[in-house]
Amino acid sequence: MKALILVGGFGTRLSPLTLSVPKPLVDFANKPMILHQIEALKAVGVTEVILAINYQPEVMLNFLMEYETRLEIKITCSQETEPLGTAGPLPLARDKLNDDSGEPFFVLNSDVISEYPFNEIIRQVDEPSKYGVVVMEEETGKVERFVEKPKIFVGNKINVGIYLLSPSVLDRIQLRPTSIEKEVFPNIAAEQKLYAMVLPGFWMDIRQPKDYITGLRLYLDSLRKISASRLASGSHIAGNVLVDESTSIKYTVNGNDRMKLSANHYLSQNFHMWL
Ligand code: GDD
Ligand code: MG
Repeated sequence: MKALILVGGFGTRLSPLTLSVPKPLVDFANKPMILHQIEALKAVGVTEVILAINYQPEVMLNFLMEYETRLEIKITCSQETEPLGTAGPLPLARDKLNDDSGEPFFVLNSDVISEYPFNEIIRQVDEPSKYGVVVMEEETGKVERFVEKPKIFVGNKINVGIYLLSPSVLDRIQLRPTSIEKEVFPNIAAEQKLYAMVLPGFWMDIRQPKDYITGLRLYLDSLRKISASRLASGSHIAGNVLVDESTSIKYTVNGNDRMKLSANHYLSQNFHMWL
């Protein structure tokens, strides 16, 4: 099974975190954002990840080469000569995606963090106008309408940017800059062939620095529930704290005050701290 990750955006809204690295390589809970996705894809049996990229592919590929071997997953690039939007990159990668197996493939926005239950794709939020909104039949999951960034309220189930597509979708998209949300999904929905499900667990689009912080809190809360042993423990720890293996902490009593690593923080690689 294959997956395509849309890594083409410039990440301007996440500045200054994106000043030195492309958004998918921004460190999030001790590893680059995109690595969370690649590991989760690998876990469900994806064997090849195609990065749909429109600038600096070397930076990304050089970085990910190491993980190709480590994770035993093929990582390739499909490079645009102009930004093709969220749909154009699909026909560009047609030969990679459509390998005659007829198997569907995943498509992911590179900036979404969740528990990645890949068979589920919708969630409720308060501000649907910031996202693509899906109006669906609750019982069957059939999508009646897909409206990108609606100006008036049409519903509160938003598109999380994680899709499982049949190769036949490739025939619907022209090779030009185009939006999957505005030009492709509304048509498939009109033909009553688009399905969605409510995404369990947490989800966040790491769009702006404040989303990064909220996403980190949600991620650490979720780790507490599903894999608590990965969180740090001890009298110097308060709340959900993730400490990288390469980090050393020297813990001493400072007068009567014991400094604590506070909730919802993580220590990044090779960070050394004395308390
Ligand atoms: N290869 C490529 N080329 N990728 C692109 C391009 C392009 O020209 N333009 C954007 N992307 C990538 C971005 O890097 C990101 O991973 C993804 O496409 C979505 O772009 P964003 O800029 O993050 O879009 P958004 O957050 O405003 O809206 C999208 O995501 C929401 C959920 O996070 C839409 O898909 C909404 O419908 C959705 O609700
Ligand atoms: Mg986004």
